[in-house]
Amino acid sequence: MHSVDYALLNRQLEALLDTRDWLTNSAQTCAFIQHALYDINWVGFYLQRQLNQLCLGPFQGKPACHPIPFNKGVCGAAARQQATQRVDDVHTIADHIACDTDSRSELVAPIVIDGHLWGVLDLDSPQHARFSQEDQNGIETLVATFIRQTDLPHLIDQ
Ligand code: SME
Repeated sequence: MHSVDYALLNRQLEALLDTRDWLTNSAQTCAFIQHALYDINWVGFYLQRQLNQLCLGPFQGKPACHPIPFNKGVCGAAARQQATQRVDDVHTIADHIACDTDSRSELVAPIVIDGHLWGVLDLDSPQHARFSQEDQNGIETLVATFIRQTDLPHLIDQ
């Protein structure tokens, strides 16, 4: 079993994010995670650019589903509840949106600014139960670093 030093990854991400630009930092963050973790087949951002809808943002992996309404899928649940979703087997989730049939487990962390859902970071794995509580804590720490070191503009079309 591989182990991941999330404290080290967090220091590396802090150094990598040397702009405050949201587009640059979100692209860098998902590329960094894709290369730092094992058994990940997709990692990327979905952004709330229209009310209650997630729009595909920077990602690593195969072309993905777009758009995702808040009332659908694991990403929608994370957006609606503003809470991390950790799913051991996506086949057990009735409204799971299968972008890639290889995906088996999933972790989705919300990005919340002043109570407002800015977007989510979604990670997929072909392995059953790839994400542990430790992975969840580690990814939430990386997301907190992304939020702290980035100017996140209001993206919703008026
Ligand atoms: N599986 C996700 C959709 C996004 S993709 O996995 C990239 C979901 O059910 O929300």
